[in-house]
Amino acid sequence: MQFTVAIDGPAAAGKGTISKRVAAEFGFAHLDTGLLYRAVGAKVLAGADPVEAAETLDPADLDNDSLRTHDVAQEASKVAVIPQVRAALVAFQHSFATRDGGAVLDGRDIGTVICPDAHVKLFVTASAECRAMRRHAELAGRGNDISYDQVLADVVARDKRDSERAEAPMVAADDAVLIDTSDMSIEQAVAAAVTAVRAGM
Ligand code: DC
Repeated sequence: MQFTVAIDGPAAAGKGTISKRVAAEFGFAHLDTGLLYRAVGAKVLAGADPVEAAETLDPADLDNDSLRTHDVAQEASKVAVIPQVRAALVAFQHSFATRDGGAVLDGRDIGTVICPDAHVKLFVTASAECRAMRRHAELAGRGNDISYDQVLADVVARDKRDSERAEAPMVAADDAVLIDTSDMSIEQAVAAAVTAVRAGM
């Protein structure tokens, strides 16, 4: 059985948690496609060429806690602008999306470019302030003493870069279900997503 759920949206809107919970609810596999760009970004920070890093990416490279840092996120957003980097990562995402047993992919361009025929598309968003507050709390919890204002500035800069790039910009697909999590608990957001997926089955 093939069933693809595409979940897009900006950083810290809750799409990671929603994607994991939706995948668990339906027994689908989950791919956080941001990790692909983060893994390339991390290699570039270590001195690699971005296109070569993308072309030689190994799935084992994705399983690394150091990809969760703020610096890697910013670099991921920068390498994601390069068309050859994006092209190198398409095949892996396609084969994941069409695997037997169902798949949830989350990212920025899943419903628009990677899986335009996904059975269900969600666009998960929240206000920049709300997302910066969540991301700031998460970073503080990990001992990172970055200020809220800096996190907000970085969220806004990353949104701008991700949504204004020429290649596969972050945008809601016309047929995506919009979920604004600004005033929702995570449980409410997950419930809204599960309802939307069930409606598409
Ligand atoms: O989802 P994330 O914060 O881990 O993503 C990191 C960066 O990777 C994001 O700022 C833009 C890029 N990205 C992308 O261009 N396309 C995707 N499908 C996923 C992530």
